[in-house]
Amino acid sequence: MPPAQKKLFIKTFGCQMNVYDSNRMADALAPHGYEQTQDMVEADLVLLNTCHIREKASEKVFSELGRMKKLQDLRKSEGKSTMIGVAGCVAQAEGDEIIARAPVVDLVFGPQSYHRLPQLVAKAGNERVIDTEFPEEDKFDHLPAADKKIIAARGLSAFLTVQEGCDKFCAFCVVPYTRGSEVSRSVAQILSEANDLAAAGVREITLLGQNVNAYHGQNSSGNEVGLGALLFEMAKIDGLDRLRYTTSHPNDMSEELLIAHRDLPQLMPYLHLPVQSGSDRILAAMNRKHTAKSYLQIIEKIRQNRPDIAISGDFIVGFPGESDEDFNDTLALVKEVGYASAYSFKYSPRPGTPGASLKDQIAPDVANERLQTLQALIKHHQNEFNQSCKGKTLSVLLEKPGRQPGQVAGRSPYLQAVHVDAPASMIGSIIEIEVKSVGPNSLYGQLITN
Ligand code: 5AD
Ligand code: SF4
Repeated sequence: MPPAQKKLFIKTFGCQMNVYDSNRMADALAPHGYEQTQDMVEADLVLLNTCHIREKASEKVFSELGRMKKLQDLRKSEGKSTMIGVAGCVAQAEGDEIIARAPVVDLVFGPQSYHRLPQLVAKAGNERVIDTEFPEEDKFDHLPAADKKIIAARGLSAFLTVQEGCDKFCAFCVVPYTRGSEVSRSVAQILSEANDLAAAGVREITLLGQNVNAYHGQNSSGNEVGLGALLFEMAKIDGLDRLRYTTSHPNDMSEELLIAHRDLPQLMPYLHLPVQSGSDRILAAMNRKHTAKSYLQIIEKIRQNRPDIAISGDFIVGFPGESDEDFNDTLALVKEVGYASAYSFKYSPRPGTPGASLKDQIAPDVANERLQTLQALIKHHQNEFNQSCKGKTLSVLLEKPGRQPGQVAGRSPYLQAVHVDAPASMIGSIIEIEVKSVGPNSLYGQLITN
């Protein structure tokens, strides 16, 4: 690798797929002399990796660009130039508008162009550049592998995108438009990346996809295989002790995936399975293609295969036409599932999606009230789940120094944050702890000494 001559700062908004993409952008630029920094002020190149899922997320880009202008002016007064690029889903959806509204931006590029980043940056030195095409070539064939030292510095737990895009077209969701239709990477490509991660010391991998359990990549015999089969292959990799995947659609929980949950000790007992609403009327209007009952049946089947599995979910309140009764159905479903954690959002009409043009949009104060009610209920269940862990023995992957001196922080199999009294030298190991107490957002445990 040539010596680093330039500094790169990437600010990531939104989901884990963007976190992964930001790392891959840094990997693409590293051989061209860009070293990542956590300090924006010293950056020669600033990239904003953006999220378009809700209006609030989108708006953040433009307020951030206001700050970028100040940064650029400050650096200019010191005789330094700063290139500003916007990547991710807002770039994909509103590239032209960004160029028109924000003169500070030199470069706009969508999620399918990351492998072309070095050329785009070079070109943006002379003119403003916009690249939001869905190219013929597969970016993953062209992105360079990360340097071992860089992987190690990113931590013991890594993301690996196996699938992108979505063909489901839920009526509220912008993903099928910003990320395009479903594409799965080949098994060989994924295993090669996973092997590199494991060789650099990574002990936990979360497989990512907008619709990850719809994964259908080619194996070495040229046959298409699902996520279950991929997980069985991943489990053979030495040093990889923990596997996770996110985000899933209820209709794609295949038999093989359930068997993976039953038979693979590496597959952690945690599943994020969004349902969005507990009302069949609203689920139909959302084009979810499942009912509350079929969702509950799927949960039941998963629990038969892995009884201790912690279920997480996503909910939207205030979708057009949602009545009090519909909302009560959502509360009833939450109670029935007993989520270990869940995320809930106020419906945000997204340009170009069918939901945005539906009549009967819900008044903001009604949606706000519903959101608060739902979040209080979810919090109650989350707390109940965490309390149920008190006194239990859990394995924890110790990842970093804890908040208090003498403590180390990590994650339980159920993805709970855990603080443990342990020396920093134990970071990197998976240990058994006994849960001694439970806080609002984390567990506290002590090492089990035999
Ligand atoms: N409004 C509110 N929430 C949304 N989500 C997706 N689109 C919207 C929208 N238009 C939520 C869904 C999804 C999560 C990633 O974001 O709950 O599962
Ligand atoms: Fe969006 Fe997920 Fe529905 Fe696909 S399955 S359209 S990503 S909410």
